[in-house]
Amino acid sequence: MTGKWKPDSWREKPAKQLPTYENPKTLSEVEKTLRGMPPLVFAGEARNLKAQLGDVCAGQAFVLQGGDCAESFAEFGADKIRDTLRVILQMSVVLTFAGSVPVVKIGRMAGQFAKPRSEDFETKDGQTLPSYRGDSINALPFTAESRIPDPMRMLQSYHQASATLNLLRAFTKGGYADLNRVHRWNLDFVKDSPLGERYEDLARRIDEAMAFMAACGVTSETVPTIRETDFFTSHEALLLPYEEAMTRVDSLTGDWYDTSAHFLWIGARTNQDDHAQVEYVRGIKNPLGLKIQPSMTSDELIRLIDKLNPGNEAGRLTLISRMGHGKVEEALKPLLKAVQSEGRQVVWSCDPMHGNTIKSSTGYKTRKLEHVLAEVKGFFAAHAEIGTHPGGVHFELTGQNVTECVGGAENITDLNLSERYHTACDPRLNANQALELAFLLAEELRAMRGAKGTPSVAAAAE
Ligand code: PEP
Ligand code: CO
Repeated sequence: MTGKWKPDSWREKPAKQLPTYENPKTLSEVEKTLRGMPPLVFAGEARNLKAQLGDVCAGQAFVLQGGDCAESFAEFGADKIRDTLRVILQMSVVLTFAGSVPVVKIGRMAGQFAKPRSEDFETKDGQTLPSYRGDSINALPFTAESRIPDPMRMLQSYHQASATLNLLRAFTKGGYADLNRVHRWNLDFVKDSPLGERYEDLARRIDEAMAFMAACGVTSETVPTIRETDFFTSHEALLLPYEEAMTRVDSLTGDWYDTSAHFLWIGARTNQDDHAQVEYVRGIKNPLGLKIQPSMTSDELIRLIDKLNPGNEAGRLTLISRMGHGKVEEALKPLLKAVQSEGRQVVWSCDPMHGNTIKSSTGYKTRKLEHVLAEVKGFFAAHAEIGTHPGGVHFELTGQNVTECVGGAENITDLNLSERYHTACDPRLNANQALELAFLLAEELRAMRGAKGTPSVAAAAE
């Protein structure tokens, strides 16, 4: 039975993946300090995101969510934030043009510090230690001391999230996200990519569309939406003492919001409907994500939707499927059918990363770009068959030139992985791989738009 919700009612539920702190006194002091900190986001912004996701639900927008698997204290810096934002903006211009719909941009940024782990312990050279659980919980170095959960890390996470969000706001409202500038970066990418010819046509058509708009007087000087954009933050709602301490009543509506990010999602390891993480998020009014793995049944999914979106509000709930490229169609179709026949309003998004993690021959955790793309294609195909809207994509990516995923035009192989493998957790697409994927995804979006009979810009120009 669902009892009365409070910010701390999760404490009465079974919980997975939460650390046990050695010193409860330090924990409660940290929680008290966090409760006194200013919110990182404002409830009105979360409502704005929910409305934009409502448009995705109605098939009138597309959502792009991306960023680190795990942000880290060590890799914190302005360049890194800028470069990740930049690649998300570049991808979104390509997708906006291809889909002829607005792209809602959400970063796995400014708070993505807590990680669920498949194994509680890790063994190296005969020594066994507790697993690394993200920088808000413990530290990555393989020493007994580093792996002790330390509540003080939540404070550092808060401050890093705050500084990150400040820079993101400055960039996206201060001119860095200007469409002309982002488009020029894309032209540079196409010029330098070994597969440039394949993308040239799309880039040229965007160029023409922008020149046409400028000739009509639509420029960054005349229209603010050309030089500014909305950018939202998100992370996994895993570390509940932190999320609870950041939960506030919105003075305008009297509703509870988690003010640590605009969007919170439930991970695949903690999505049991009677457990703590689901209990916590059901009471906050932020738009929510729910990861879905292949073992999820239609009944389980509908039960979770009942809990997380009892009012069946468009934009409240995004289902993020992460099935693996081999299983995506077969696993997704019954779920799409069940949600459709029950008339549930949801956004469907595809995470083609977490079902496609493999171990390389050189011992690194990696993902093949071809598998990532195959899962996205399977996702689109499943939606086309059932008649539902493929609403978005969710990627682990970075703007840095890392070598963590294999494949792509630069042909990163298992042997290259050791060159620049920097992730604190899962392997990320690098900037070029992410952009390549955006161009390939654009082909899917164009095909979908063509199938719906919307005239394309090219057709109109002919
Ligand atoms: C993640 O998004 O980093 C993650 C752990 O995903 P999942 O819960 O889907 O495995
Ligand atoms: Co991950």
